[in-house]
Amino acid sequence: MKLAVYECEEWQEEYLRERLQDHELVFVSDKISEDNVPADAEGLIVFIWSHVTPQILDKASRVRFVATMSTGFDHIDVDECKKRDIVVSSVPFYGENTVAEHTFALILTLSRNILPAVQRVRAGLFSPQGLRGWDLKGKTLGVIGSGSIGQHVIKMARGFEMPILAYDPYPKDGLDAELGFTYTNLDHLLAHSHIITLHCPYNEHTHHLLNDRNLAVIRRGAVIINTARGGLIDSAALLRALQDGRVSAAGLDVLEEEASIREEYQVLHPSFHATSDLHKLVLEHVLIHHPRVIVTPHNAFNSIEALERILDTTIENVHAFLRGQPINTVQ
Ligand code: NAI
Repeated sequence: MKLAVYECEEWQEEYLRERLQDHELVFVSDKISEDNVPADAEGLIVFIWSHVTPQILDKASRVRFVATMSTGFDHIDVDECKKRDIVVSSVPFYGENTVAEHTFALILTLSRNILPAVQRVRAGLFSPQGLRGWDLKGKTLGVIGSGSIGQHVIKMARGFEMPILAYDPYPKDGLDAELGFTYTNLDHLLAHSHIITLHCPYNEHTHHLLNDRNLAVIRRGAVIINTARGGLIDSAALLRALQDGRVSAAGLDVLEEEASIREEYQVLHPSFHATSDLHKLVLEHVLIHHPRVIVTPHNAFNSIEALERILDTTIENVHAFLRGQPINTVQ
């Protein structure tokens, strides 16, 4: 099959070349356009900046398969593809353990004062004075959202011997017994958890899920971790809770200003930084400078293995399509 592949970094190009040797691959570093799509392409492999439109499909009229290297697929005109009998596949999962591991990186950085400890030793003072931390063992973890990432977090928390509460408006039958946690409502979770970690989607229902009202009932001195989406927390309310001690510390991988992000991989793309003044916004963000807050730059998904899984699934999607049994198809 002749596949036109868009928006790959050099290592991704090599990775795909090695594993799709039986196919004719044409790599274009830019996003797809009517000018760069080969008229004889039979398949397209794209990322989210490549809009697969009817005009592109007119130009490449032999295309039978489109694979997107992302979870979201709203950059592809799926209805048009359907009309033309073109199969579209995506990458539904790739980073569940990866984000869960980052969640614990943030928790442990806070619980063991890793940041000030490293800074102190680098400054030449090798003393543990004032750096006493606290154990995770026996502390209650409150997990908001018991989906793929939340479940990985729960499994890891079991290893630390933490009791676990979870809130999810769509609880999964039997999951609590299987993984060893207790489902509860949001206010109860907030009132009883030492650490609260967010793993639910951001949408109109979850905007400012943590706000002044419910941060008022939070267990005094709780730690908040957010690796999901910035808009889930009202930043001003969080700041107030940090200031009066209701929240003792926060570990954030996401900030409210990033609201326009649809897909994690977007933050790695050079044009993301060109089109958004994120750097300035991030610098100005008062939370970043708060002594009891640590912020990472939306990096929870960004591991070698997670990015390789995106490519591996894309390769499987190509093979499955050619076997006549497509997988990970989208409607
Ligand atoms: P998922 O779809 O497997 O799980 C989400 C869970 O949240 C579901 O169980 C759902 O029922 C639950 N949920 C829905 N509304 C809720 C509410 N109002 N309160 C509590 N729970 C609610 O999603 P997955 O893969 O676990 O990802 C979770 C979130 O993590 C994503 O929506 C995404 O925003 C974020 N994410 C962040 C990354 C990063 O690099 N920082 C990377 C990947 C995902």
